[in-house]
Amino acid sequence: MSIVITGASGHLGRLVVDQLLAAGTPPAQIVATGRDLDKLADLAGKGVTVRRADFADPATLDDAFAGADALLLVSTTTVGDRFDNARTAIDAAVRVGVSRIVYTSMVNASTAKMTLAEAHNRTEDHLKQSGAAYTILRNGWYLENYTDQLPIIRQYHALMGSAGDGRVSAASREDLAAAAVVVLTQDGHVGATYELGGTPFTMTELAATVSDVLGTPIAYRDLPIPDYTGALAGAGLPSEMAAAVADADAGLARGELFTDSEDLAKLIGRPAITPRAAFENAAAAVEESR
Ligand SMILES: NC(=O)c1ccc[n+]([C@@H]2O[C@H](COP(=O)([O-])OP(=O)(O)OC[C@H]3O[C@@H](n4cnc5c(N)ncnc54)[C@H](OP(=O)(O)O)[C@@H]3O)[C@@H](O)[C@H]2O)c1
Repeated sequence: MSIVITGASGHLGRLVVDQLLAAGTPPAQIVATGRDLDKLADLAGKGVTVRRADFADPATLDDAFAGADALLLVSTTTVGDRFDNARTAIDAAVRVGVSRIVYTSMVNASTAKMTLAEAHNRTEDHLKQSGAAYTILRNGWYLENYTDQLPIIRQYHALMGSAGDGRVSAASREDLAAAAVVVLTQDGHVGATYELGGTPFTMTELAATVSDVLGTPIAYRDLPIPDYTGALAGAGLPSEMAAAVADADAGLARGELFTDSEDLAKLIGRPAITPRAAFENAAAAVEESR
C-alpha cells in the first residue's frame, strides 16, 4: 500500500500526513510530496518517504507518483494556474498507473458561479474523463478563513465581508483532512463526490458567536465588493487572492458556499467542529501564546 500526498508542505496536506501517521499508517506507506524538500525534512525524519513534485515541472511527477495505490491531489495555491496544475498532475498519475486519484475540490463546484469554482469544475471534468478511478472531496470554505482573522476582529470589533445574509457551511482543515484520511485508507469511495461542510452560519450570526466567545461586542460590517477587495489587499493579501476572496464572498451571498450535506460528519464519524468551538480554540491559542 502506498499513499502519495501532494501539497504536503501546505496546511491541509500536512494535516493529512500527520493524521495518517496518528491513525497508525506505517510511515513507509506514506509518500509526502512538495516543491521544496526542505519543508518535508521532519517527515523524512519520521520515516515518511519524501519526493519532489512540482506540477509546473511535469518531469518531477512520474517519479513522485510511481507506485501509488492512492494519490491525494491537493489543489494548488495560485488561482490562475490551478486547472493547468491539476491537469498536469492527473495526466502524470494516469501515465504511471496510479490506482486511484482523490482530488480536493470545493463545495458546489459544478454549479457555483464564483471565479474559484471554474478551475475546480474543469478539474473534476478532466478527472472523470481521464479513465482513472477517482474520488472528489468538495471541501467547504475553511473555518480558518475566519479564525485567522481573530486579531483583526478583536482590534476593530468587527468582522468584514461582502457576504450579505448568505450562509456558509464552513469546516475546519482538521476535519477535512480527517475525511481525506478515511477516503484514502478505506474501500468503497470510488466514483463518489462528497460535499463536505460544517454547521452553516451567516456573517451576522458568526459575529454574534464571536461576541459571546470574546465577551465583547463584534459587529458584522458588510462592504461593497471593491471596498472589501481593497481592505483585503491592504491587509497584505496578494491582489489576485484579494479579488478571489471578495468574489467568493459575493458567491457566498448567493448561497454558493452553503451545503446541508451530511457527508463530512458521516465520513469522519462525528460532528464537524462548530464555529463557536473553532473560535474558542483560536482565542485560547492566542492567550497561550501571550
Ligand atoms: N476551502 C478553502 O477555504 C480554501 C481556502 C484557500 C485555499 N484553498 C485551496 O485548498 C488548497 C489546500 O489548502 P491549504 O490550506 O493546504 O493551502 P496551502 O497551505 O497554501 O498549501 C498549498 C500547497 O500547494 C502546494 N503547491 C502550490 N503550487 C504547487 C505546484 N505548482 N506544484 C506542487 N505543489 C504546489 C504548496 O507547496 P509550497 O509549500 O511549495 O508552496 C503547498 O504545499 C489550496 O492550495 C487551495 O487550492 C481552499
